[in-house]
Amino acid sequence: MAVKELTFLVVCSLIVCTIGDEFFTSTDKISQLFEEEKLLLETFDWYIEAEEKNLKRMKSLLLLLQLGSYLDPDDPDKIKDPVAAYKFLRQVRAEWMDIVDYTQQSQYQLYQTLLTLAKIPQLEDLDGAASGLIRLQEIYKLYPHNITKETSLNADEAFYVGLVAYEEDKFQHAFLWCLYSLDRLTEYSTITEEELLHYLSDTAYHFGSLPVAIYFSQWLLNLDPTNDEVKVQLDLYRFLRFQGESYPDIFTLNTESSKYESLCRGEVDERTSKRQRALSCRYSTGGGNPRLMYAPVKEEVEWDEPRIIRYHDIISDREIEILKNISRPQLSRAETTRGVSKTRTAQGVFLEEDTIVVAPISQRIADITGLSMDSAEELYVQNYGIGGRYEPHYDEWDNENGRIATFLIYMSDVQIGGATVFPEVGVALKPKKGSAVFWYNLHKNGDVDLYTEHAGCPVLRGNKWVANKWIHEFGQEFRRPCSLSYWE
Ligand SMILES: *[C@@H]1O[C@H](CO)[C@@H](O)[C@H](O)[C@H]1NC(C)=O
Ligand SMILES: *[C@@H]1O[C@H](CO)[C@@H](O)[C@H](O)[C@H]1NC(C)=O
Repeated sequence: MAVKELTFLVVCSLIVCTIGDEFFTSTDKISQLFEEEKLLLETFDWYIEAEEKNLKRMKSLLLLLQLGSYLDPDDPDKIKDPVAAYKFLRQVRAEWMDIVDYTQQSQYQLYQTLLTLAKIPQLEDLDGAASGLIRLQEIYKLYPHNITKETSLNADEAFYVGLVAYEEDKFQHAFLWCLYSLDRLTEYSTITEEELLHYLSDTAYHFGSLPVAIYFSQWLLNLDPTNDEVKVQLDLYRFLRFQGESYPDIFTLNTESSKYESLCRGEVDERTSKRQRALSCRYSTGGGNPRLMYAPVKEEVEWDEPRIIRYHDIISDREIEILKNISRPQLSRAETTRGVSKTRTAQGVFLEEDTIVVAPISQRIADITGLSMDSAEELYVQNYGIGGRYEPHYDEWDNENGRIATFLIYMSDVQIGGATVFPEVGVALKPKKGSAVFWYNLHKNGDVDLYTEHAGCPVLRGNKWVANKWIHEFGQEFRRPCSLSYWE
C-alpha cells in the first residue's frame, strides 16, 4: 500500500514538476508551500513505514537462512563429501539470491527521486526573502523589533538576515540584526556570541561608527584575551578614532528618504492631499457607449495633471477568482526591460484572450476608455512577493508603437503597503479590490509624459494581485487624435 502510494507520488511529481520554481517573489506561491510541506512529511512517513515492513521481512529471512544452514562451519571436513559440497554451493547461491531480492525491495532510490523532485525553497529563496525584509525596513524605516512584532525570530534566523544585509553592504541593517540576534542567543543557538561580536564590530567599523566598533572588539577580546587578530583590529580602530571626531549613529535609522519612499509610507504633503480631495467623482457611460448606458461605471479623478482616473467595481470577485485560478499554475518571475531584476520582485503571466473571462474584461476596458484593444498587450496578471515591489519606472517603451496608456486593475486589497505611487506628482493610489486606475503614458504628440513615472510600493502586509492592460498607439488614430502641439 505505502509502496504504491510512493510510486504514484513519484510519477505525479514527474509530470507536474516544473523547474525554476521561485517562492520569495510570489506570496501566492509561498501559500502553496503549505501543501508541499504536508506532502513532504506524509511521504516521509510512508517511506519509513515501507522500510520498516521491509526490515521486518529481511529479519525473518535472516532467521530462516540461519536455521536452514546446511553445513556447520566448525566441521569443514564435510566438504570432502562431493554431494555435501554440491548441496552447499546451491545453498549459498540461493541465500545470495534471496538477499539480493529482499534488499532490492528497499524504497530508498524511489524516495530519493521523490526528494529531488520536491518543490522546496532553495537557498536563493531564503536570500531573496531576507533581502525583501531588509528592503521593507529601508522603505518603511523599521527596526528589527518593529518588523518582528507579529512573528519573532530566533538568534540564528535573525543572524541570517543580518548576513544577507552584510553581503548587500547594508552595514547598519546588518549591525541591527546582529544586535537583535545577540539579544536572543541561547544555548541552543548555532551562532555563537564570538561570531556575533565579530560581525557587530566589523559592521560598525564599515558604517563608520568607530566607538561602537571598539566597544564590541573590546568585548570580544575580553572573552578571548589571546586572540591576536582582535588585538590588531582593536589597535587599528583606536588609531582611526583619533583621526576623526564625529561618527554616524548606527543605532538610529536615517529618516531621510526619497519622494518615492515617503509616498509609500503615506506621507503625502498637505497641498497634494487637498488638491486630491478637490477632484471629482461621477458615473460615466464612456461617452455614451451603449454597453455602459444601463450600467455606468463609477469614475473618480485621482489626479488632474497627468489625468489619473480610478474606476470602481469594474471586475467582480468571481472574475478575480477565475483570473487567479488561471494564472496560478503559469506564474513566473516578472522581468523588466533589462531582464530579471531586483527592482521588480513579482511573478506574472500574460493571459490569452480566448477564454471566457479574459475577453470580456478587454472589451470592458475598451468600452470604458474608448480606446481600441487591437494593438494592446494581453492581460498581464501579477502576484507580488516578500516585500514585493516595482521601483520607479515608465511603462512606455522606446518604440514606434508605444504604450500609450495603462489600465491597472487591483485584484486584492493590501493591508499595509503596496500602493501605486507617482513620485513626480506626489500621488499615492491605494490598491482597492475590484477597482482600476487608468492614465496616459504619452502626450497627444507622442512624447512620454514625464510625470507618469510610477512605482509599486513594497507590500508590508497582505497579498497583492494586479492585472495590467498596456494599450498601444496603433489603432487609436481616430480615438485619441494625435496633436502636434507641444503642450498636449
Ligand atoms: C518602531 O519602534 C520604535 C521604538 O520602539 C517606535 O518609536 C517606532 O514608532 C516604531 N516604528 C514603526 C513604524 O512601527
Ligand atoms: C478556483 O480554484 C479553487 C481551488 O481549486 C476552487 O475551489 C474554486 O471553485 C475556483 N474558483 C472558480 C471561480 O473557478
